[in-house]
Amino acid sequence: MSKHIALVTGGIGGIGTSICRELSKAGNTVVANHLAFEAEKAQVWLAAERAAGYDVHLAEGDVSDFESCTAMAAKIQAEVGSVDILVNNAGITKDGMFKKMPLENWMAVLNINLNSVFNVTRQVVDGMLEKGWGRVINISSINGQKGQFGQTNYSAAKAGMHGFTKALAQETAAKGITVNTISPGYIGTEMVMAIKEEVRNQIVAGIPVGRLGKPEEIAKLVNYLASDDAAFITGANIAINGGQHMC
Ligand code: CAA
Repeated sequence: MSKHIALVTGGIGGIGTSICRELSKAGNTVVANHLAFEAEKAQVWLAAERAAGYDVHLAEGDVSDFESCTAMAAKIQAEVGSVDILVNNAGITKDGMFKKMPLENWMAVLNINLNSVFNVTRQVVDGMLEKGWGRVINISSINGQKGQFGQTNYSAAKAGMHGFTKALAQETAAKGITVNTISPGYIGTEMVMAIKEEVRNQIVAGIPVGRLGKPEEIAKLVNYLASDDAAFITGANIAINGGQHMC
C-alpha cells in the first residue's frame, strides 16, 4: 500500500520529473499535473516513468485557472484518492526589463507562479485537515529572495509564495500539516538553458560551488520535507543555491 498520495504541479517538467521520482521511490503514489496541450508528451512521459518502475499518474489541469483546478482535484480524488502531499512546482518565466514589460507578461507570471498556489492548495487543504496530516511544499526561487535584473514579475511571484507559506503554516501547524518553501538557485533545466549563453555563463561564474544545481538535488529536499522526519519544520524557506545567495 502506498504511504501517501502526492500531487506535483508541473510534474512532467525538469524539476517536476525528479520530484515525482523521489516521492515515488519513498513509497508514495504520485500524480503529475500537466497542461492540456502537453497531453501527448505526458502520455510518453507516463509510459517511460512506469516502465522505470515509478508509481505515477497524470492529471490534466491549468493551475492558473481555479475552475480547472477544482475539476482536476475532483478527478484525482475519484481515480487515485485524497492528496496528502502537494508540491506547488509549476512555473514559467517571461523575463524582460520592467520598463519594457507588457501587462500580459506580468499577469501570466503572477497567475501561473503565484495565483496557482491558491488555486491548487485550496482544493486539497480540507482533506489534509480532516486527516490531521499533510505537506505543502512551494517551489520558489533564489530570485524571490534576492530579486533579479529582468524578473520583476517572477521575483514578485516567487517572493509572494513564501508569504503564503508563512501564513498558511501558522493556520495549519496544530493540525499536522507543514507548509514550507524551497528556494532553488539556478538548476540545469530548460528554463535556465533558455537564458542567453553569455548571461548564463556570467550567472554560473557567480555561484561559489561553480556549477548549476541538479533537479535531483531539489527533489531529495522535497522528499525530506514530505517525510514524517520533517514534522518539526514548518513556515521555513530553505535555500538550495550553491552558495549564490546566503541569507
Ligand atoms: N545587472 C545590471 N545590469 C544588467 C544586468 C544585471 N544583472 N543584466 C543586464 N544588464 C544590463 C546590460 O549590461 C545592458 O546594459 P547596456 O544597455 O548598457 O548595454 C542592459 O542591462 C540590457 O541587457 P541585455 O542586453 O541583456 O538586454 P535584453 O533586453 O537583451 O535582455 C534580460 C534582458 C532578458 C533580462 C536578460 O538580461 C536576461 O535574460 N537576464 C537573465 C535573467 C535571469 O536570470 N533569469 C532567470 C531565468 S531562470 C529562473 O528564473 C529559474 C530560477 O528560479 C533561478
